[in-house]
Amino acid sequence: MCGIFAYLNHNVNRERRYILEVLFNGLRRLEYRGYDSAGISIDSLSSSDSLSPLVFRQEGNIESLVKSVYQEVATTDLNLEESFDVHAGIAHTRWATHGEPAPRNSHPQTSGAGNEFLVVHNGVVTNYEVLKETLLRHGFNFESETDTEVIPKLAKFVFDKANEEGDQTVTFSQVVLEVMRHLEGAYALIFKSRHYPNELIACKRGSPLLLGVKEFNEDVCNGPSFHDVKFLAKNDQPRELFLSSDANALVEHTKKVLVIEDGEVVHLKDGAVSILKFDHGKGKKGLARPASVQRALSVLEMEVEQINKGKYKHYMQKEIHEQPESLTTTMRGRLIRGGSCKAKTVLLGGLKDHLKTIRRSRRIVFIGCGTSYNAALAARTILEELSGIPVTMEIASDLLDRQGPIYREDTTVFVSQSGETADTLNALEYALENGALCVGITNTVGSAIARHTHCGVHINAGAEIGVASTKAYTSQIVVMAMLALAIGGDAISSQARREAIIDGLFELPSKVREVLKLDQEMRDLAQLLIAEQSLLVFGRGYNYATALEGALKVKEVALMHSEGILAGEMKHGPLALVDENLPIVVIATRDTCFSKQQSVIQQLNARKGRLIVMCSKGDVASVTVGGSCRVIEVPQVEDCLQPVINIVPLQLLAYHLTVLRGYNVDQPRNLAKSVTTE
Ligand code: F6R
Repeated sequence: MCGIFAYLNHNVNRERRYILEVLFNGLRRLEYRGYDSAGISIDSLSSSDSLSPLVFRQEGNIESLVKSVYQEVATTDLNLEESFDVHAGIAHTRWATHGEPAPRNSHPQTSGAGNEFLVVHNGVVTNYEVLKETLLRHGFNFESETDTEVIPKLAKFVFDKANEEGDQTVTFSQVVLEVMRHLEGAYALIFKSRHYPNELIACKRGSPLLLGVKEFNEDVCNGPSFHDVKFLAKNDQPRELFLSSDANALVEHTKKVLVIEDGEVVHLKDGAVSILKFDHGKGKKGLARPASVQRALSVLEMEVEQINKGKYKHYMQKEIHEQPESLTTTMRGRLIRGGSCKAKTVLLGGLKDHLKTIRRSRRIVFIGCGTSYNAALAARTILEELSGIPVTMEIASDLLDRQGPIYREDTTVFVSQSGETADTLNALEYALENGALCVGITNTVGSAIARHTHCGVHINAGAEIGVASTKAYTSQIVVMAMLALAIGGDAISSQARREAIIDGLFELPSKVREVLKLDQEMRDLAQLLIAEQSLLVFGRGYNYATALEGALKVKEVALMHSEGILAGEMKHGPLALVDENLPIVVIATRDTCFSKQQSVIQQLNARKGRLIVMCSKGDVASVTVGGSCRVIEVPQVEDCLQPVINIVPLQLLAYHLTVLRGYNVDQPRNLAKSVTTE
């Protein structure tokens, strides 16, 4: 949800085209976070030979920005071959919250004429109206409807005031620290200023932000801390620094990163990096002068290939088809079967010190949003069965709206692909305040949820770039099935069941490979449904989650109304919708609910329903009783793992429907990956 990126090189002496391309590429990698509009700012030599920032902003996707920048450059005397000793650029791709997508609402937002201060922002400033009123009283004019515009204007106000009071030595970080003191809400910000050429400042509260360091002095990099370090000697060595909302935009440049913490202010100047900690106190002459903090760099475990489309046309298609591999990675090193250790068991390193506490919990509460919530719902039954502990489900925003009860005796499990979703993070804060044990299940190492929970498990599905979550969903279910096995312990009474699940987990990648062969069949079905207005999906038991998730995929990417319905509720309302026109998918694979689903199929047939039934291989005759229907046959696996198989044809259906209907499958309308605002 909005992506911010910045680049600063020191003594690289590269031409301006290079800086532009670095910024554009950074934005391309972040585009899945928002694609309403985009903008950049780079330096230019003014007539007085001082550096003054240029700003380019454009409605639409990154390629529209790229085109417009090069067009504009071609009509001015801006020399792209011109080199700089130091160059600092900032960039933004936007998912609109305040104000329609338009150049004036795009970022960088500016302090006004002359671009004295420029800001790119991911998040929402909740008190912007109050700040705007104050700034209006001080003579500032506003051009946009954004909440962000108050930030650069506030920076100018602080800067001007310090100078009026005779403080000619006010530093860029002091200005930013003072601005932060007035901001409420969630933000990751990068500042650039005409008054501080060759410097950038980044700070954050709530929204994610990383610093990437390339060709850094290795001794320093491998040292224990990262503290106010100057780039040392070796003037011929390239030194490049990057700031980014996520690792995807960094990995092609460097794997050495610093995950910036809330309240930290990172100051890039003269090839040095200083990290200051914001506090609400004030320093001498009214401006804060906080101490530096020490931080260690981490190494990204990610390869550039992971963030490319490879042989596929779209990220969503690639991510659907790589599920056999992503599931294998999710389970790697965590399942033990046979060998010297005869028992079949599960090892989740991140939980081992907390299993006793979890087993003593009064209840387990799953908390998440969207697809992550659906994955937790798919795993709920097996967790209840193996642990004997009641499991309740909470959509993060609803838990907060209700201020629902969370107790010290609860184990709360936060499920989030990105690990950054604002609602889930706020719910985590709430659970921590209420003293519950907090477990994180995320795909993003170093994410806020990974860092702020007491313990957790990474799903290791690899970078998921398609806005519609696919491979993360199946890996989340597998992790939660393993969680159920780990919490369930080694009771003799459930040993056979546990071993069957572990065997099922081992077989899962090959079964997913088998179900992916339905690709062409799902394309044919999509062709048949291409002009429909609506699609219902009926499921129950383990596969109620499949119905919800299948419908979510269809609605979010194919822009077709779709609803997941608990089949047990059919007679209590949804049956009224059934006629010979409305297509209905009924999930009726083999499990304890099978005979009930057979009865649902018969009742729908009796009302001439237009059915597409998903059944286990070899079950066609058992599901076509009472009428004809189209059938999708899928391989059968252990019941609690069946949702992993069953969702795949629906992911393929959603994908093909979208492409056939002519929509952009990787950039669904109005959506963005990582919802970092409430
Ligand atoms: C749907 C989808 C969203 C996310 C939801 C939570 O395909 O991707 O519904 O699942 O926004 O995101 P995370 O899992 O990052 O917390």
